[in-house]
Amino acid sequence: MIPYYGIDAGSDSFSQGNDPSIRMQWYMTPFDIEITDRLLATTRSVRRRLDFDRPMDPDVLRDCVGLASYAPNASNAQDWRWVIVTDPEQRAAIAELYREGIVPPMQELLERRRADGDDAGVRHSEAVLYLAERFHEVPALVIPCIRGELDPDLHLAWTASLFGSILPAVWSFQLALHSRGLASTFTTAHLLAADEVAALLDIPDGYLQTCLIPVAYLLGDDLKPPARKDPDEIIAWNRWA
Ligand SMILES: Cc1cc2nc3c(=O)[nH]c(=O)nc-3n(C[C@H](O)[C@H](O)[C@H](O)COP(=O)(O)O)c2cc1C
Repeated sequence: MIPYYGIDAGSDSFSQGNDPSIRMQWYMTPFDIEITDRLLATTRSVRRRLDFDRPMDPDVLRDCVGLASYAPNASNAQDWRWVIVTDPEQRAAIAELYREGIVPPMQELLERRRADGDDAGVRHSEAVLYLAERFHEVPALVIPCIRGELDPDLHLAWTASLFGSILPAVWSFQLALHSRGLASTFTTAHLLAADEVAALLDIPDGYLQTCLIPVAYLLGDDLKPPARKDPDEIIAWNRWA
């Protein structure tokens, strides 16, 4: 169990905490930079090292959603709903739709990457296809939804607010999973069949599915940081450069 639920998220001073000793821990325990940096650098897309056989503990998922709820969201509306699918038949139906969306374009991309001698790209495509093939075996499929509607006329600011009000929470959720020995991947391919999935799961009109996070326990040792661009390549100081 995580100890944070007694703290009123609306209070600046967290003065509503139920347990004063826990409150003091929050103020007094310094962050271990080495551990937090490792968590941030190694929370990766896991496809080949998912434990398909180990059942999911609902309390762990509940705790991770609880921690995700501390993420920023516009006006603190928290208009979200996390649909967690563990039922094998529902998972199989979603997996079929996921495969229909991702396999043909990924197969094409794989061929192109092979022709170009892009070894890292080939490894990525093969991993994506592997997960797609076994998608129905992943113990929990988590679909974070937010209240709102997509409208091509919606101003960029409101579109950013809509997705920005849940995607930070999704990443917190993935970090919390990883710190507990679970693994996940941020995916969007099922959204090509969002209406069918909404019908399957009774997701009402007025709620948007934003992604789908397959979740399982991690097999083997912890993950290594992936290759990423150097910060100096991607920062522009003071004006675009
Ligand atoms: C918006 C978005 C959509 C993605 N969609 C998929 C997907 O449908 N299927 C999948 O296997 N991975 C998907 N990914 C995961 C990316 O392939 C992955 O994050 C990227 O290759 C970097 O690898 P890493 O997370 O291991 O560092 C998606 C990631 C993002 C951010």
